[in-house]
Amino acid sequence: MAEPFLIGENMTGGYGAVDILHGCTLAVEKGEIAVIVGPNGAGKSTAMKAVFGMLKLRGGAVRLAGEDITTLTPQARVAKGMAFVPQTQNIFTTMTVEENLEMGAFLRRDDIKGTMAQVYDLFPILKTKRYQAAGELSGGQRQQVAVGRALMTQPKVLMLDEPTAGVSPIVMDELFDRIIEVARTGISILMVEQNARQALEIAHKGYVLVQGSNRFTDTGQALMADPEVRRSFLGG
Ligand SMILES: Nc1ncnc2c1ncn2[C@@H]1O[C@H](COP(=O)(O)OP(=O)(O)O)[C@@H](O)[C@H]1O
Ligand SMILES: [Mg+2]
Repeated sequence: MAEPFLIGENMTGGYGAVDILHGCTLAVEKGEIAVIVGPNGAGKSTAMKAVFGMLKLRGGAVRLAGEDITTLTPQARVAKGMAFVPQTQNIFTTMTVEENLEMGAFLRRDDIKGTMAQVYDLFPILKTKRYQAAGELSGGQRQQVAVGRALMTQPKVLMLDEPTAGVSPIVMDELFDRIIEVARTGISILMVEQNARQALEIAHKGYVLVQGSNRFTDTGQALMADPEVRRSFLGG
């Protein structure tokens, strides 16, 4: 079997002396959507940080397109084509929408206008509000800014930690539609979601994480059909 495009394999590590991840594995293929679900405190955000290089691993490895990137800094991973939207504090609230997008492109030395136009095509409301402070936007629009900012680096992999947190079901559906659109352009999506059912519905691959370990791994459809997954993690 071919190596996935991005894989965090057998990751073990945590904060200080305490391990949170215990041999956790997450992977995503090119242009596909992989979704991580699981209870609060399971280590989903920690696993995302580990894949992005914000957490030193005691064991395991992270590989991108076959290259071992385990020891690279987050910034070096951005240069390799990874983008990460963290769960909190993922925009500059006092800056305008457009300044946020410009900040996203800080590593680029080429013309960013085309990418900005693509982001505005994907999220038209951001163009309307481009000179407004991002902090004045609604929760859903702020998440669009965060995703848009990440896309400004022209990533190959987009990592999202609970992108629909605190938004209405309609806004969630819209955001998922946009994420599907992004994946169709060939960008891999690795996403943590608390809206487990809806997220698994659009997932090629799903991971149920419990106490820092993989509990269930399958296609999104198979996980949704699994009685035990349904009962324990999807509310029946
Ligand atoms: N910065 C941190 N320092 C110490 N412990 C942390 C830190 N962040 C998270 N934890 C702990 O790690 C565990 C997993 O947290 P987290 O990865 O945020 O879970 P999830 O995203 O699945 O809700 C929890 O017990 C949490 O208290
Ligand atoms: Mg979390």
